[in-house]
Amino acid sequence: MYALVAIMLVVGLVAGYAIGATLAKPDQKSYATLDQILESGKIVVASDTTWAPFEIYNATTHQYEGVDIEIVQRIADELGVQLEIKPMLFDAVLASTQSGQADIAISSITITSERQKTVDFSDPYYSANQAVLVKKTSDINTIGDLTGKKIAVQVATTGAIWVDEHLVQTGNVSQSNFIQYQDIPSAIASLEQGTVDAVVCDTPVAINYARNADYSFRVAVTIITNEDYGVEIAQGNLALKYAINNIIAEMKADGSLHAILVKWGCA
Ligand code: ARG
Repeated sequence: MYALVAIMLVVGLVAGYAIGATLAKPDQKSYATLDQILESGKIVVASDTTWAPFEIYNATTHQYEGVDIEIVQRIADELGVQLEIKPMLFDAVLASTQSGQADIAISSITITSERQKTVDFSDPYYSANQAVLVKKTSDINTIGDLTGKKIAVQVATTGAIWVDEHLVQTGNVSQSNFIQYQDIPSAIASLEQGTVDAVVCDTPVAINYARNADYSFRVAVTIITNEDYGVEIAQGNLALKYAINNIIAEMKADGSLHAILVKWGCA
């Protein structure tokens, strides 16, 4: 009898421990909370820093710069922590807050309902559309002119999604003429070389290339997609999200966001 009770006790303890261990898992967050970030003294920010004028590495000053960099610098300053920019490709940026690679991500990221299934976003801080960038000598002037042409995009961007939905799925552009590069400089290089006829990307980036005298490009068409950029945050990291929303609201109210946009030619 005592032996039986003893066995049941042991079995009960082991089972209880196992249940406890599985129940404990959902509490272990894959992200750092606001308190943990403040305690660590730094915020790690993922960004694809090949996207001027929002996030770009300046090889002369050896600094990251641009609209988004100034926004996250202000966020870090207000939180009283160091800013660490972690450069990575855009598809990795999108996954960085879930994978715990970064505390937040800033990368001209459009807030979409698809992305909101897996991550959270701050309130919007900028509105953009898509643009078709071509060589000055190109005969492309309308969306219709893109039929049968070779088009380059950056993979995983809303530009890539737009081209896929409106030109590839509709049969106007073949799959093999739809070229998805890992980063925008590769797409730009192939436009320059004439390997592709057009690049589709966000308006501020296309305008920036069109203004750059090192290239001979123009914006052929603006596609109104009404996109809003947001700071990406891990789903459920609410205190951090609210803190960032407060700082963005402050930057809108005190005119500093507008001043940054003017400085980088985006207002
Ligand atoms: N706004 C677009 C998107 O969210 C493109 C952003 C690309 N950003 C970058 N740094 N490459 O898909």
